Amino acid sequence: LPARRLDGLEYNPWVEFVELAKEYETVNLGQGFPNFPPPDFAVEAFQQAVSGDFMLNQYTMAFGYPPLTKILASFFGKLLGQELDPLENVLVTVGAYGALFTAFQALVDEGDEVIIIEPFFDCYEPMTLMAGGRPVFVSLKPVFSKAELELVARLCQQHDVLCIADEVYQWLVYDGLQHISIASLPGMWARTLTIGSAGKTFSATGWKVGWVLGPDHIMRHLRTVHQNSIFHCPTQGQVAVTKSFEREQLHMGQPSSYFVQLPKAMQRNRDHMTHSLQSVGLKPVLSQGSYFLIADISDFKSKMPDLPGAAEEPYDRRFVKWMIKNKGLVAIPVSIFYSVPHQKDFDHYIRFCFVKDEATLQAMDKKLQKWKAELGP
Ligand SMILES: Cc1ncc(COP(=O)(O)O)c(C=O)c1O
Repeated sequence: LPARRLDGLEYNPWVEFVELAKEYETVNLGQGFPNFPPPDFAVEAFQQAVSGDFMLNQYTMAFGYPPLTKILASFFGKLLGQELDPLENVLVTVGAYGALFTAFQALVDEGDEVIIIEPFFDCYEPMTLMAGGRPVFVSLKPVFSKAELELVARLCQQHDVLCIADEVYQWLVYDGLQHISIASLPGMWARTLTIGSAGKTFSATGWKVGWVLGPDHIMRHLRTVHQNSIFHCPTQGQVAVTKSFEREQLHMGQPSSYFVQLPKAMQRNRDHMTHSLQSVGLKPVLSQGSYFLIADISDFKSKMPDLPGAAEEPYDRRFVKWMIKNKGLVAIPVSIFYSVPHQKDFDHYIRFCFVKDEATLQAMDKKLQKWKAELGP
């Protein structure tokens, strides 16, 4: 029998939609991963890590390959306005997923409230429950300004709340806007964990190198979880990430920097997709960051409300299933990123991933042109 902490957690929406997509001839814009290669310097760094020093086939330090914790401390220290110690303020994890799990296990106690901002990365809720916590959901409207972030920061301080900031899309910010780390706001460093992912940073999601940055008085508890669960993360991926950050540090802010080039290229993809989706009446909400844009399907909801599916199934899920089967396009229903009681209020949005190569965007265009022709003049 499974442990009680797994009660109610078996269902995973990803499995359902990924399986359905496989049954049809589709263009997959659902899951968030690039289908183009990482930058050459990163791939070469990985190749070098595998074929070079044979000792890189062995364990490295438990809390991170020392050159990696060093470069993360110096790189992010500047961005967060903190002097970071590589041993005390940095922990390398198996992806940002590993960082999140370690943080929840280290900090959430039986009965603790965990405030989760919706829409949320879907694992936050099961990770809270597995740690014995009680999720409390707050829904976001489609605006999130610096003033609101400051309000959240003030509330954290007034109510003595810890903040877990999942910032994996930090470099993917568009229209000249700037990413703001909540840990950089006054009074927040001491109560914030900042989580990052080399997968998102260097378009190499399979590497699964992640990290947590934070004050030692919190990090020490994460280290306790880490040394009693994973202990070491794979060495060679950490070496490749180290070299990649070292390269980026030299190119910081220049046109040659990957952190400058990637958002520029992805902004073009976003604009392409925004324009294409509009042609069939999908209404994209302007995406200012991340791998994704969200399209409003309210018009479809009023024009064709009776799509197949169970009556209690949120409309966006029925719509995505219909779109996969009839239009050959895969997206993700946004209601899966909401708690069950709030899903009915947010069932008119679907999410598309635009971090895809040119061929995929062209294949999407073809599907959309066909859909448009079916709509008639
Ligand atoms: C918001 C968010 N956090 C964390 C992760 C996990 O990152 P990683 O692949 O480094 O484990 C993802 C991946 O999709 C994500 O979207």
